[in-house]
Amino acid sequence: MAQEYKVKGLSSLDLKNGDKQEVEIEGVEGGKALILKIQDKIHATGANCTHYGAPLAKGVLTPEGRLTCPWHGACFNVSTGDVEDAPALDPLSKYEVFEKGGAVYIKADEDVIKANRRFLNLKCSASNDQKVLVIGGGSGTLGAVEGLRGGGYKGAITVLSKEGYRPIDRTKLSKALLADLSKAAWRQPDFYKDASIDIVQAEVSSVDFSAKKVFTKGGETYEYTKLVLATGGTPRWLPSEGLKGDLGNVFILRALPDAQNIVKAVGDNGKKIVVVGSSFIGMEVGNCLAGMKNDVTIVGMEEAPMERVMGKKVGEIFRGLLEKNGVKFKMGASVDKATPSTNDSSKVGAVLLKDGTALEADIVIEGVGVAPATEYLKDNSAVQLEKDGSILTNEAFEVKGLKDVFAIGDIATYPYHGPGGNGSPVRIEHWNVAQNAGRSVANTINNPGSKPKPFIPVFWSALGSQLRYCGNTVGGYDDVIISGDTKQPSFVAYYTKGEEVVAVSSMGKDPYMTQAAELMRRSKMPKKSELQKGVDILEIGIPSEIKI
Ligand SMILES: Cc1cc2nc3c(=O)[nH]c(=O)nc-3n(C[C@H](O)[C@H](O)[C@H](O)COP(=O)(O)OP(=O)(O)OC[C@H]3O[C@@H](n4cnc5c(N)ncnc54)[C@H](O)[C@@H]3O)c2cc1C
Ligand code: FES
Repeated sequence: MAQEYKVKGLSSLDLKNGDKQEVEIEGVEGGKALILKIQDKIHATGANCTHYGAPLAKGVLTPEGRLTCPWHGACFNVSTGDVEDAPALDPLSKYEVFEKGGAVYIKADEDVIKANRRFLNLKCSASNDQKVLVIGGGSGTLGAVEGLRGGGYKGAITVLSKEGYRPIDRTKLSKALLADLSKAAWRQPDFYKDASIDIVQAEVSSVDFSAKKVFTKGGETYEYTKLVLATGGTPRWLPSEGLKGDLGNVFILRALPDAQNIVKAVGDNGKKIVVVGSSFIGMEVGNCLAGMKNDVTIVGMEEAPMERVMGKKVGEIFRGLLEKNGVKFKMGASVDKATPSTNDSSKVGAVLLKDGTALEADIVIEGVGVAPATEYLKDNSAVQLEKDGSILTNEAFEVKGLKDVFAIGDIATYPYHGPGGNGSPVRIEHWNVAQNAGRSVANTINNPGSKPKPFIPVFWSALGSQLRYCGNTVGGYDDVIISGDTKQPSFVAYYTKGEEVVAVSSMGKDPYMTQAAELMRRSKMPKKSELQKGVDILEIGIPSEIKI
């Protein structure tokens, strides 16, 4: 039963448009809310993001009522609490708020205040002959199926996933080596059951687009009226001896069993571990394992980790952070092969570099990139795969040349209209991009003819400190303007091409990344020369109009 609860220390709702304030709720242990004003209306919502709990008081509130989380880009509509952008799944709770007798009160259920969220309820019994079939059980799929039911879709929804379990938080596999399904899964099985979303364990082997049929390796056939391809990426093995999956204790990392196998091999720690690849996954898993008291060496080809995407200076910051945690680096290095252990010839014993260095290894983890998982379409004459094996789509993620077929996430190459994009085709391997694309497809299916809602790609990583990133460097960048203290680290890096800021990364500087993403959506990022003159993006008012 909803009750009135007094807001601690607030005597009036005297806020200006755009103000937001976190408050404590008296009589509810740990109870908090966010009070904010937009378009002359006061709202009270849950105080924390429903993704990982970031304090939304530190987020960015836009004039049209979007509240964007300071950590990973989730965005909520403050009027309804609904999720507008990934990666949050549950909406914010919303409370009635009012002044009474010189104090402020909210009216709400105690349980809802404590939960700090409105649990999404998608209860539905599928009722017509429309059938959405989704191939894949990852981030894109989450966005598509929850977006479909959340948007009122009443047809059947079937997910064919070879993963063998319901959607998990893949991003935690490398940051925490999360190996337990009950902790990694976003939803309980009943959630999907209640929502009439059938998750079937099956590997798709081919598709007949003209007959609208999908075939699985197990010999089953599934029909669809709309098909969503969301099969993600397949991690690459290095083609060298000992590193192509031909020796034990050499791992890749994409799914729960990979994390489980690594955890099992690491055992009670104290192992010598070589990580091949100094991009995000290699850096995160290396950092995680070093924190568990293993002797970790990361081998990378560039001079600094992630140099191509993040720039040398920023890459060196990451290296410094991991070194503080005990990680060793062999940069500018090329791997030759891995050799077996002298104790057990079925398992790895060392990694040999091309310069002749031998790195002893009980365990090797390869983080050397992924290929779009589209093998089931390779011989399909109805679809022309891109050179990298991905699928070309339009802005609505509709597959070029096919009817009622969408491709999203790591397999999709779509036209990018963010800064520096000008509609260039881009394939982005980010959790949010996949899920926002899934949400966009759901909206297109639910509202045929609607214009797809643009989003700015957001990425994050845990590299001894939290990295946030938005934008994209599809057209390259020619300079990086860094402001702040790189030693702390507490900095913002602006990636520029000519005068245009095409991407922004930050550490210890919330909500700069979020503010940048909102400004990018509105083509309002300042120019490089303005940043060089000291313009602070947090001081720029956010206009309502979306311009990408
Ligand atoms: C360890 C790790 C950490 C990451 N950390 C971050 C991060 O911090 N931030 C970030 O933004 N991004 C991160 N990413 C990237 C992010 O997870 C991906 O971009 C995102 O998962 C892509 O979503 P997707 O739906 O395209 O593919 P996925 O989430 O990979 O899902 C693809 C699904 O398709 C299934 N599948 C494949 N082939 C078939 C088939 N033939 N039949 C049936 N099912 C099939 C797979 O089993 C899987 O269930 C990380 C990735 C990894 C691997
Ligand atoms: S905590 Fe808000 S988006 Fe992750």
